[in-house]
Amino acid sequence: MSRIVVFSGGDVGPWRVLDIRAIRGEPLPEVRRLLMTEGEPSGAATWRLRGAISNARYATRSEVTTLAQLQPALARPSASQAVLIPIRKSPAWWALAQDERRAIFEETSHHTRIGLTALPAVARRLHHSRDLDERFDFLTWFEFAPEHEADFWAMTARLRATREWDYVEAEVELRLALE
Ligand code: HEM
Repeated sequence: MSRIVVFSGGDVGPWRVLDIRAIRGEPLPEVRRLLMTEGEPSGAATWRLRGAISNARYATRSEVTTLAQLQPALARPSASQAVLIPIRKSPAWWALAQDERRAIFEETSHHTRIGLTALPAVARRLHHSRDLDERFDFLTWFEFAPEHEADFWAMTARLRATREWDYVEAEVELRLALE
């Protein structure tokens, strides 16, 4: 299994793109379908976004343990909805020290605490892109059943209102369905 995950926007892939919108910063070109592959795919695409499955940076031992207990696996048959949110943070964020970033991420913004409220309904995977010279720093991926969609967006709205998001300079939202 490759740790590099490629999201290809174009005319192929199991996910139908219901909506693409720029929340902040530049948009992504419209596409009809999305393909997620571990490793490089063959075939053409309108755009590709790459990220690496990596180690945790901020989660403490007790958070890692709680997340492991509550997080469902990807590709559950019931999870017919997905959301891809590419994000880039500002130079000011990257100029901070690790302990300062952790303090903003969790002690001030409660990212994990807020995110945990959506579990176990939402499966997630974080991909790191910054060190791959990509246009986004992170590709965040979420899967859930249609009945949990409203809760997912309510949780996302809470995250976007935190101080952590003061450091988000680009964010695009892709709403997807397996159809
Ligand atoms: C990072 C949990 C939802 C965007 C993280 C991390 C955790 C987490 C534990 C830190 C990983 C580490 O230690 O490095 C969750 C949970 C969620 C959730 C349980 C509920 C489904 C979201 C949503 C977004 C998002 C909806 C986007 C709108 C991010 C980003 C990072 C991140 C960009 C990387 C932050 C950085 O390293 O600076 N998340 N999250 N998360 N999450 Fe979430």
